Amino acid sequence: MSNVVVVGTQWGDEGKGKVVDLLTAKADLVVRFQGGNNAGHTLVVDGKQFICHIIPSGILYEDKKCLIGNGLVVDPEVLLEEIRDLGELGTEISPKRLSLSEKAHIIMPYHKAVDLAREVAKGKTKIGTTGRGIGPCYEDKVARTGVRAVDFTEPDTLKEKITANLEEKNFYLTKFLNAEPLDVQAVIDQYLGMAEELKPFITDVSLELEQAVNSNRKILFEGAQGTHLDIDHGTYPFVTSSNPVAGNVCAGAGIGPNQLHHVLGIVKAYTTRVGAGPFVTELTDETGDYIQERGVEFGATTGRRRRCGWLDLAVVRDSARLNGLNSFAVTKLDVLTGLETLKICVGYELDGERINSRPASLKKMARCKPVYEELQGWQEDITGARELGQLPSRAREYVKAIEEITGVPAFIISVGPGREQTVMVQNPF
Ligand code: GDP
Ligand code: IMO
Ligand code: MG
Repeated sequence: MSNVVVVGTQWGDEGKGKVVDLLTAKADLVVRFQGGNNAGHTLVVDGKQFICHIIPSGILYEDKKCLIGNGLVVDPEVLLEEIRDLGELGTEISPKRLSLSEKAHIIMPYHKAVDLAREVAKGKTKIGTTGRGIGPCYEDKVARTGVRAVDFTEPDTLKEKITANLEEKNFYLTKFLNAEPLDVQAVIDQYLGMAEELKPFITDVSLELEQAVNSNRKILFEGAQGTHLDIDHGTYPFVTSSNPVAGNVCAGAGIGPNQLHHVLGIVKAYTTRVGAGPFVTELTDETGDYIQERGVEFGATTGRRRRCGWLDLAVVRDSARLNGLNSFAVTKLDVLTGLETLKICVGYELDGERINSRPASLKKMARCKPVYEELQGWQEDITGARELGQLPSRAREYVKAIEEITGVPAFIISVGPGREQTVMVQNPF
């Protein structure tokens, strides 16, 4: 296939970074289309780890082009830091390797201040955001007051926008959120400086993609977050502020739907969630601790302990429909090694009735009880498996159950964080 989309099917952190890095070998361009540095995508190559927050996960390949689409919200401080960090690791990032869409929105200091102050004000009812200013930046995009990357090429426009926006934001911060105001001149000076550094990377990403399509180059689209964090389809309001679903590739990168040929969903072999919100299969017992510890389930962005639970296939089945999934990559299968019995949630019981899909109402969601199927676990170390036949039969049965219950085939099975720790049944490219 020419162009492949990778999306998360749960609540993020499914292992998208690892799979995108792996698939980049066969791609020419890697494109992010939504989210911002709320994402943390971990790559492990030759035992060395790198976490991408804003730069696409294909960046470690010297001859591939990475693009940041218009659908993102970009914190320039974080982007510059990531460019510097990669440079220190020996990966020099030039405009030949990285483009930033001129239409991407820019995260400003007031977005971060509002995000943090709102969470404090909400207290117990907080969303548990990453505090990176993601929601407030998308709000300004929709309110038509946002700063865009293109404004970095016009210092006067940038100054005018910052001055006008801060008048309103400082009022809101001080009078409503009891937070500190921001100094207009300091923000202008800081952003003019960063604009100068980022200017060479700013381009029309949609045009670059058109050229790539016309010269038959292969494009890999990298989703951030997960389907159930989607602003429309997720566990609202415990969601992020963008659309991680595959359909948003078109709007968020500037490409037509006829150019998307394969959608690969990443399914972690169990479920995790960072931040607040419903989680029907959550385990608060020692099995949950076992998975959390073996899976090293700490947030790649905020370092928070991730909540862990059994695999919820009602959630994954919804994702298959919402994204039009052609295949899966099942990740972190190795983490389940050693558990005697494995449970898979195949639907819910709600007020005595069986339902197969997640209800929109949070109150109904809270009353949902998981309906489980039980499978036998395996004890063998599977991190060395590179072919299906090298997996114990019970591990293969677990993957088969996922395929049968969702109707989607598993193309990739990941058995460790390293690029090579993979069973590639079929390459989607
Ligand atoms: P992403 O946000 O979807 O890219 O996922 P994260 O990078 O936030 O979290 C996934 C974590 O699991 C990272 O620490 C990866 O290095 C690690 N990982 C990915 N695949 C596997 C796997 O198959 N087995 C194990 N043990 N770890 C994995
Ligand atoms: P990757 O791409 C897991 C969660 C936050 C919070 C909610 C809203 O690494 O899978 P936000 O800061 O986006 O307004 O927070 O969304 N969240 C993620 N959880 N992985 C992510 O990204 C996430 N990005 C946001 O924890 O619950
Ligand atoms: Mg992550």
